[in-house]
Amino acid sequence: MAKGSTPGRAGGPERRVMIVGVPSETAEDETRVSLIPPVTEKLVDRDVDVCIESGAGVGSEWSDAAYREAGCTVVDDRETVFERADVLCQVRGLAANESEPMDPYREGQVVIGTLGPYDLEEGTWQELGDRRLSSFALEFMPRISRAQSMDVLSSMASVGGYKAALVAAERLPKLFPLEMTAAGTVQPAEVFVIGAGVAGLKAISTAERLGASVRGYDIRLEVKQEVESLGADFVELDLETEGSGDDEGYAVEMGEEFYEQQRKELGRVVPESDVVITTAAIPGAPAPELVSEGMIADMDDGSVVVDLAAADGGNCDPTVADETITYEGVTVFGPTNLPATVPKTASQLFANNLYNFLDHLLADGELVIDTEDEIIDSTLLTHDGTIRRPHEENDEPADEEAGTDEE
Ligand code: NAI
Repeated sequence: MAKGSTPGRAGGPERRVMIVGVPSETAEDETRVSLIPPVTEKLVDRDVDVCIESGAGVGSEWSDAAYREAGCTVVDDRETVFERADVLCQVRGLAANESEPMDPYREGQVVIGTLGPYDLEEGTWQELGDRRLSSFALEFMPRISRAQSMDVLSSMASVGGYKAALVAAERLPKLFPLEMTAAGTVQPAEVFVIGAGVAGLKAISTAERLGASVRGYDIRLEVKQEVESLGADFVELDLETEGSGDDEGYAVEMGEEFYEQQRKELGRVVPESDVVITTAAIPGAPAPELVSEGMIADMDDGSVVVDLAAADGGNCDPTVADETITYEGVTVFGPTNLPATVPKTASQLFANNLYNFLDHLLADGELVIDTEDEIIDSTLLTHDGTIRRPHEENDEPADEEAGTDEE
């Protein structure tokens, strides 16, 4: 029987089976894999073939044998996965993987993953359109309840927030919890979390569970209750925050005057903290700079800052992405991929989100791309020769985009 085909029922015509491809991740320090065996098994049960590159799961502790047991075809090289797959699943593709700007995608292929859509260069958009790729950027998953199970950013932020608290606890030369011992009383560490979205709330709950005295802050006052429900105190700053959120509940970019005022206010809280974890983010915009060099210099020696927004420029002035520096006696971490340090869980959550997304697209073993559907409309970057740029709500045919011959 030809690869990719199954006999039709009662000896009828052969039906082509959809092939989902899982190449290894090539971004530096990436340990995650887009699909794990318990998830590929569910696809195989639905008559979908899964073709995976040998070793793709090793970084997250899944062997080739485990994929074979789950019914996958394991191939030796990456190229074969790209050649065979109808649908490619990647943790990091396109601009989300700086070391491999353009993978060898086949004409008409479907690509699903985090694709760094805000950083895509003009030439790449054009190339995606020219190759008639259907590319889905999971970063653009709308934060609506029916898409929650497909939201990889939330899953990864949760893992990142948890790990940020652990990294801080590990490096701080003090214990997190209150200790009343025969040798005296040890006060709990003071942890301050800036930005109380998914990552921030997880950092707060983790630091609370480790016994620290935790405070949280966000520009959106509506999260006050959530912060308090985790046992932390909410810090209110004397700021006019009207217009700081959009309809979807995301923060919007504020003017420099606002941030100046905010830094002034934060300057009273940051130096009192042993640990500062920053997670303030605005979708599609650089991270707001909220913590100045002066504030960090005013913290006690040995204090720790973990800047989760490092990949978007950082919330703290001294942050260097992917480095750990010491600034005026304070350790400043700028990790950009903490989920990759917890690869088994991170891959499990990523794969579950991806499966739920595939499930949303699959009907009778075929992918149905219905652009009227909000989830598809929001995440589909290019399709059938059209460059969609969903974040700009601006559909253009690929050849018009080139803007040359016909003019
Ligand atoms: P989110 O959108 O759920 O939360 C961000 C929060 O920042 C929002 O609550 C927003 O209101 C708040 N914010 C924005 N501007 C602010 C300001 N000026 N002052 C105070 N708060 C402000 O985002 P999520 O999913 O929690 O991610 C947070 C950041 O962590 C993102 O930059 C994300 O890329 C990053 N991240 C980093 C990881 C790493 O390994 N370094 C892992 C996962 C996420």
